[in-house]
Amino acid sequence: MHTTSAIIRNMTLADLDQVMDMEKRCFTLPWPRGAFEGELTQNAMARYLVAEVEGRVAGYAGIWLIFDEGHITNIAVHPSFQRRGIASLLLERVLSNAKACGIEAVTLEVRRSNLPAQRLYEKYGFQPEGVRKGYYTDTKEDALLYWKRCMSDVPETYDWIVVEEEEDDHGAE
Ligand SMILES: CC(C)(COP(=O)(O)OP(=O)(O)OC[C@H]1O[C@@H](n2cnc3c(N)ncnc32)[C@H](O)[C@@H]1OP(=O)(O)O)[C@@H](O)C(=O)NCCC(=O)NCCS
Repeated sequence: MHTTSAIIRNMTLADLDQVMDMEKRCFTLPWPRGAFEGELTQNAMARYLVAEVEGRVAGYAGIWLIFDEGHITNIAVHPSFQRRGIASLLLERVLSNAKACGIEAVTLEVRRSNLPAQRLYEKYGFQPEGVRKGYYTDTKEDALLYWKRCMSDVPETYDWIVVEEEEDDHGAE
């Protein structure tokens, strides 16, 4: 596999034109733009990353941080950038940032027919634990429920943690 080097950074509203284009290309039930706007501006639990290649958004991934559990909401890579390790870079960074935020287990749903995504998740230690029958409203396809319950192989990164500078005890004298 040829691995592309990408900058991984937090998603902003300015990315949404490209994200929406990809959402429509990658999913049969694309999220509306307003859903992403809400995630970025109103949902305190939500964190979204993009992978930028040569100034272009090549992929994105999101997670909700709910107490000590993470729920991956979506991950997508533009068809012209697939199979170059970009989803892997995004997933690694989502997991490492989530771990730094105290996440101890991560879950997600994936269509039963979506073998590429299932292989991706299994590569990072996710295992199928259950089925949500008829979960997807367009085709009534089942969702497989995956969990990654061991985070010991995941490093920690700090894109989502703001470290406040300590106050100078002595103050101005
Ligand atoms: C699934 C998806 C995100 C993978 O993105 P990607 O950048 O191509 O993935 P990577 O190149 O990082 O591949 C990582 C691993 O995923 C698996 N994988 C990815 N594409 C695959 C394919 N077409 N067939 C089989 N396995 C595949 C492989 O295990 C691969 O590891 P390997 O290269 O060592 O074999 C991408 O195909 C996509 O955007 N699909 C449409 C949206 C979607 O289904 N998202 C998931 C919703 S749950």
